[in-house]
Amino acid sequence: MGERGPVIECSDVTMRFARTLALDGASAVFSPGEIHAVVGENGAGKSTLLKLAAGSLAPTSGSVAVGGERLRPATPAEAARRRVLMVHQHFMLVGAFTALENLMLGNEPVQQGGVLNEARARREVTALAEKTGLTVPFDTVADALGVGDKQRLEILRVLYRGALAILLDEPTAVLTPLEADELYKVLRSLADEGRTVVIVTHRLDEVVRFADRVTVMRRGRTVLTRPLDRASNAASTEDLTRAIMGREPPPPFSPPDVESDAKMAIEIRALGFQDAAGVTRLRDITMSVRAGEIVGIAGVEGNGQRELVHAIAGLLPSCSGSIAVAGEPLPFDADEARAIAARRSVVRVVHEDRHTEGLLLDATVADNLVLGQLGTVSRDHEAEVVSRRVKSFGIVPADPSRLAGELSGGNQQKIVVARALDAFLSKGTQPGCAVVISQPTRGVDVGAAAAIHEAIGKAAAAGLGVLIVSADLAELRQLCHRLLVIRKGEIVAEFAPSASEETIGRAMLGAEAA
Ligand SMILES: Nc1ncnc2c1ncn2[C@@H]1O[C@H](COP(=O)(O)OP(=O)(O)OP(=O)(O)O)[C@@H](O)[C@H]1O
Ligand SMILES: [Mg+2]
Repeated sequence: MGERGPVIECSDVTMRFARTLALDGASAVFSPGEIHAVVGENGAGKSTLLKLAAGSLAPTSGSVAVGGERLRPATPAEAARRRVLMVHQHFMLVGAFTALENLMLGNEPVQQGGVLNEARARREVTALAEKTGLTVPFDTVADALGVGDKQRLEILRVLYRGALAILLDEPTAVLTPLEADELYKVLRSLADEGRTVVIVTHRLDEVVRFADRVTVMRRGRTVLTRPLDRASNAASTEDLTRAIMGREPPPPFSPPDVESDAKMAIEIRALGFQDAAGVTRLRDITMSVRAGEIVGIAGVEGNGQRELVHAIAGLLPSCSGSIAVAGEPLPFDADEARAIAARRSVVRVVHEDRHTEGLLLDATVADNLVLGQLGTVSRDHEAEVVSRRVKSFGIVPADPSRLAGELSGGNQQKIVVARALDAFLSKGTQPGCAVVISQPTRGVDVGAAAAIHEAIGKAAAAGLGVLIVSADLAELRQLCHRLLVIRKGEIVAEFAPSASEETIGRAMLGAEAA
C-alpha cells in the first residue's frame, strides 16, 4: 500500500463569476480509498467544485481544506504541493509537443548540470504506463492524437506528477464503453492503494457500476450525497436521473420510421485516404444513408472515424473515391474554403472536438450559433434564429451576448449541435440533405441528451439523412436504424440496433479479440 491520499473538504463554498453564481453553498467531503462520483446537469457547478478542490479557483466564500488544513494560498501550485491534481474537462496539452514532452512538462527529470534526462523520463513513464494500463504513443505529437489517447495522456501526466488525490472532470466522455471500463479499473486500483479519486461523469450507469459514493449537484448546491452499495444494488440510474433533474426522467427515444422508397442522402463509394506519412486511414469505404435514416458509425476511437467525417466535410482534398449528398457529388478541392462552400447547401458537419473544430470561445453565443452560416442566415433574421436555437436546445444561460467560453461544457456542445441541425430545419428541409454529427451528446446531461436526440429524430423525420459517429455504443443503439462498425479505416460489419453491445464490441475490436 502506497501513501494515502488526503481528505478534501469543501465547506459551504460559494463561487461567483461576474454575472453567475456558479456555486451557492456547496459542501462535499472526498475521502481516500474511494471512487467518489459527482453528477448533475450541465452548469450545475461540477467543474467549478473540482477546480476549487484543486486550487485552480479560490472560493468567493467558504473554505477548502486538504488533509485537515485550509488550502492557502488557494492556488494550483499549493494544491499540487499537497499532491492534489486535476484532469480538466478540456484538454490542456501542448499540441506541437510529443506525448512524452507533454508528460515531462513542468516535471522534467534533470541530470547533473541541468541537462534534461529524457531517457530516464521515458523509462519512468513507460513503467507507469505498464503498471496502470494507460498506454499512449509517446513519440506522437499531441495534435495528432485522438481524443482517447489525449485523455489517457492527461491522466498519466497527473500520476507522473505524483498525485495522491486525483480529480477527473468527465474523463470518460470521450471513451468507448470498453475504454471506460479499463479506466475504472485503473481508478479502482488507485483507490485501493488509498488514493483519493473524484470523478465527474454524465454516464450514470458508470456511477452505479463503479463508484463507492455519489454526490448530486443542482444549481450550485450539493443536494445529495450517498454511498453506493453495489452488492445490494441500492441505486439505479433512474433514481440518480430523478435526483439530478428534480423530476421524472423523459421517455426513451426511438427513431422515426424510414419510408421504403426514400431517396439516397449520403452515398460514399470506394473512399480511401492515406495520411502525410503514407499510412492508410480509410480503405475502400462504401456506404449510404437514405433520407430519413439515422445511421451510426461505431468503432474504437482512432480507427478512421475522424478522417471519414473530415472527408465528408471537405477537409481531406487528397482522398480517393467519391461522396455524393442529395445526388450532388461533393468536390475534393485543395482550396478548403471552396470545398466547404460547395457543401453548404447539402451537408452540415459537427466535429468531435468542439473546442478546436467548432467554437470560437472568445466570441459570443450568438455569433457561435450562426458561425459559418453568414450568407445563409440574413442579418435581419439572425436574432430570431439565435433565439430559436437557444430556446429549442435549452442553452443555459439563455443570454446570447455571453462569451461561449463562459458556458459550461455541455452547453457549449448544445451550441454546436443546434447550429448544424437547425441549419436545414429553419428553411424548409430539402429531403436528402444530410447532417453528420460526431459525438452528439458528449458531455451533455441526461435532460439535454434527450433534447438532442429528439432534435435528431425530428431532422430525420423531416427527410434529412443523419450519420452519427459516437464512442457511446448505448447511445448509437438507441438512436440509429443501422450501425456500421469501422475498424482500421474499413467498414467491417453492419448490425441492427438490437444486436448486443457485446457482439458489436467484438466487431469493433476485431477477430483477434473474439
Ligand atoms: N469562467 C467563468 N466565467 C463565467 N461563468 C462561468 C465560468 N465558469 C463557469 N461559469 C458558469 O458557472 C456555472 C457552473 O459551471 P460549471 O462549469 O461548474 O458547470 P458543470 O456542472 O461542470 O457543467 P457541465 O456538465 O456542462 O460541464 C455555469 O452557469 C457556467 O456558465
Ligand atoms: Mg463541467
